[in-house]
Amino acid sequence: MQRGWKLCDGNPTTRASSAPTPPQTQTQTQTAASSGRVPIPAQGNGRRMKALRAELHAAWNAVMDEAEESGTYTLGEPVRRFEQMVEDAWATPNADPLHAVMVNSGTTALYGALLACGIQPGDCVIVPAMTFISTALACAWVGATPIFVDVTPGTWTLSLDAVRQFLVERADLRQRIRAIIPVHLYGQIAPDMPHILALAQEEGWKVIEDASQAHGATLVADGHGNKFAGTMGDIGCFSMSGVKNAGVAEDGGCLLTRDPQMADFLRMWRDLGRKSGDRYGFHAPGVRGRMGQLNAACGMIQFLHLEEWNARRRAIAARYTQAIREAGLPLVTPIVPDGSASAWYKYVVVAGTPQERARIEVCLRAAGVETERYYPLTLPEQPVYQSGQLPCVVAGDLAVARHLAACGTCLPIYPELLPDEQERVIAALTQAYANRQPQPGGTI
Ligand SMILES: Cc1ncc(COP(=O)(O)O)c(C=O)c1O
Repeated sequence: MQRGWKLCDGNPTTRASSAPTPPQTQTQTQTAASSGRVPIPAQGNGRRMKALRAELHAAWNAVMDEAEESGTYTLGEPVRRFEQMVEDAWATPNADPLHAVMVNSGTTALYGALLACGIQPGDCVIVPAMTFISTALACAWVGATPIFVDVTPGTWTLSLDAVRQFLVERADLRQRIRAIIPVHLYGQIAPDMPHILALAQEEGWKVIEDASQAHGATLVADGHGNKFAGTMGDIGCFSMSGVKNAGVAEDGGCLLTRDPQMADFLRMWRDLGRKSGDRYGFHAPGVRGRMGQLNAACGMIQFLHLEEWNARRRAIAARYTQAIREAGLPLVTPIVPDGSASAWYKYVVVAGTPQERARIEVCLRAAGVETERYYPLTLPEQPVYQSGQLPCVVAGDLAVARHLAACGTCLPIYPELLPDEQERVIAALTQAYANRQPQPGGTI
């Protein structure tokens, strides 16, 4: 079972060298990786871009030809085609059509969504404590205060119970809440979405889904079959950066709404407040936030691969879960509700203690397997909030989010991960627990 790596006790002094390896051809890399000598990266973007290189160059040449012909270098046909592709792919049968608006990042998308929802200075917005900084930073940009709420064990998404408890405990703030941002963390749609939507309706809140990590994830909601991430609330926001399940070449983002007026506002806002056809008329305080045409061309290529790539991610996730359960490892693995499908942006395992996490990370690194802490801190623990530069409200003790930040680590999961590389990850993880007494923990 051991293919040449040392038995690991988690002591950094006994770990194998992780010196960088020189560049190799793809075949060399695959052969070496399969034999256990080449590090397995935590993220697969480099491999993805390498595989798509020829296709991308052809698409970019076509965009440049088109631009020469039309003289349009911004917001031209490629951007509109990409929007149309997303609208069609994630449409919900028998529901109003979706309007997609491409922008230059997921952060810009969140900022625009809050503006489109009418969020103003002094308002409060419910945000999970465990997400990327942009979800909360966008609130600051419109002058709103995020209320950081705990997440649910196993799905690691916004806890409805924690939201309800906050409403009871802080009745003084209830009237100031104007929106809620469920974040579909690690690719998993918040399973409570139907109840979150119902609560938001009762309270008069807007629902902004942060689906940056959940491209193509689905949830069985309201008994009406599958709904795609980002299509259930008032607006869905996606990061389309190059590291996401389907991204563009650099930074990019997308907004999805069924409200044509919101879509019109967002189209104008992303282009400095300019209305289409009125080049020097500026109708709103907009931003320079549009998506570039070359990025759109890359986005379309990746989007066409999304289903196939997500299927591969699902297979990898299923194999990890099966292997961890069969080996009886004391790790909490992700929970996906029956009938729903995560996009598996990340596969997080949660150890019982921070020391245990550090130990298995060292063991994996010694075997050439990179892991990622995603994220190492909850948002209110970030210096920008601790220093008081930005205001925030913390709902309760955030015990689950803190435990996840302290004890979670992500295993490599990306479509380009080779099957024998995955077996190497599993063997290293299993080996990390060999000869050890079962540890307490592994549950919360
Ligand atoms: C949950 C979440 N929200 C927002 C963002 C921000 O997106 P971007 O980096 O494209 O601005 C990210 C990016 O990682 C994210 O993961």
